[in-house]
Amino acid sequence: MAAVVGTWAFSMAAVEKARRLLEIQTTSQQSTSQGHSQTERIQDDPELENDKETGCFVVGRGGFPNKAGVVQCDAAIMEGLPGRFGAVAALPGVGTPLTVAQMVMDKSEHNMLVGEGAVAFAKEQGFRIEDNSDMMTEASLAAYEEFLQSLKSPPKNHDTLGLIVLDEMENITVGVSTSGAPFKDPGRVGDSPLPGCGLYADNRARAAAATGDGDKIMCFCPSFHVVQLMKQGLSPGDACQSVIQDICHRVGNKDIFEIGLIALNMKGEVGAASTVPFPYTFWAQGMETVEQRQSCPYVHLD
Ligand code: GLY
Repeated sequence: MAAVVGTWAFSMAAVEKARRLLEIQTTSQQSTSQGHSQTERIQDDPELENDKETGCFVVGRGGFPNKAGVVQCDAAIMEGLPGRFGAVAALPGVGTPLTVAQMVMDKSEHNMLVGEGAVAFAKEQGFRIEDNSDMMTEASLAAYEEFLQSLKSPPKNHDTLGLIVLDEMENITVGVSTSGAPFKDPGRVGDSPLPGCGLYADNRARAAAATGDGDKIMCFCPSFHVVQLMKQGLSPGDACQSVIQDICHRVGNKDIFEIGLIALNMKGEVGAASTVPFPYTFWAQGMETVEQRQSCPYVHLD
């Protein structure tokens, strides 16, 4: 059973592309090919991170800059196979940070590289480090200037592009990419590149990804928690809902924060839960089109 799920409505294009790649492989019986890993399929669609208009302000090129005006991105990828993980954090100047994260997974002896070290590694791998001005759009520059003038609290949207792909061979891979908290302190790292927080995958084909306020999310390891609950037999939807309920219960209504979770299991079943209205996109073998679905915010009664 092949299936793909993505966070937010803007993941539609990535889910559509992953679906096409999975379908080609299905029809040409290439799914046995060892060489064409699931990771490569996710990486086949770096355009979304690199598109100034997609995931406006929150992902890759065109994302909100930090307080110093620099776009610094976090991205990570995890395969279901144990020990297959790669991440970059606070990486400037690269429009496709998830591709660099994949290189870390495939080529580095380490699993996570940050800041200058991530830049040096990206250069070694042949990436061009672009001027920050090329990472900005007119809109993100205007938002930054307004932030500097008003010194208002930054907007709360920390949206992350998260994508989980399951192929017919029951390989599962999850990837996340974000420019992080708007106008964050330079060097700030969110939940996205932290395994168990922004993403988690298990070799028995279950995975989860998170989006929302990474400074809060990283205190709860929600992606790991969702996967553990699925291992114990919960459906993806029930596992996501249970983790959101647990977090709400622990922090209480007053301190609840933005979080959305998606999950996929080896049957190609999908689930999501959130504390905010949370659209996500989904396709599974047998469905004619990619669907946009909506997770309604969980309301906790203290
Ligand atoms: N969830 C993205 C971030 O807060 O960095």
